[in-house]
Amino acid sequence: MNGSVPGPASSIEDIRLALQSWPEVESYLEGCKGVIVPLGSTEQHGPTGAIGTDAITAEAVALEVGKRTGVLVTPAQAFGMAEHHLGFAGTMSLQPATLLAVMHDLVLSLARHGFERVFVINGHGGNIATTKAAFAQAYGTAASRGLSVAPQLRCRLSNWFMAGPVMKQARELYGAKEGHHATPSEIAVTLCMEPSLLSKQRPLPDPAPAGPIHGPDDFRQRHPDGRMGSHPSLATAAHGTSLLDTAAAALSEDLRSFLKTA
Ligand code: NI
Repeated sequence: MNGSVPGPASSIEDIRLALQSWPEVESYLEGCKGVIVPLGSTEQHGPTGAIGTDAITAEAVALEVGKRTGVLVTPAQAFGMAEHHLGFAGTMSLQPATLLAVMHDLVLSLARHGFERVFVINGHGGNIATTKAAFAQAYGTAASRGLSVAPQLRCRLSNWFMAGPVMKQARELYGAKEGHHATPSEIAVTLCMEPSLLSKQRPLPDPAPAGPIHGPDDFRQRHPDGRMGSHPSLATAAHGTSLLDTAAAALSEDLRSFLKTA
């Protein structure tokens, strides 16, 4: 049952969970047990990047994957684990235990309705460990609550910025100037999604090199403008359009195989 993939959606409205009625979701579940959850973060992205970068990019990739596969996309979880970015204004973070509880509860909600394949499209490295822990806990809870989907429930974390073809393209475009935080590739995707951000782009001095990350004060001391080895001024909206296409193609393939895997 979960092996079926709906096929390309005729419009983006058709795959946004927020725009469906509950009977529409019930009838969707008769044909497909898969759902996409975009997961971002609300945190500083260097002196020129938007605070919402990781949420904007995760949702953009998720909606594009949804359009190509016909799989429903939930509203974005825009807050992530960004404790180490709290030294910079505008950052809003969930502690690891809070994010774990949020992701656990969202998976359990979906599982209760019969969703068996939860595909989380993530835009922030700091969410990875906690989200995997949430999946482990959700499997246990689904079983202990006796949910009928428990034996079939599978969750997958797909970090769009770490997909092989995306990393390859980022390397070709920016080489070592891609860096590790506030990267030109993620900033490029925000520029194609939100043209108003183009006005913030300006040349920047060389960044502090990427290094270990500890608490928020230590982070700010090591990386005074928030960047970690990155040159976001190299980003263009055209790069963003192309990177978004690359990410959506790679993740759509990954999602199709996830839906078909027992
Ligand atoms: Ni980011």
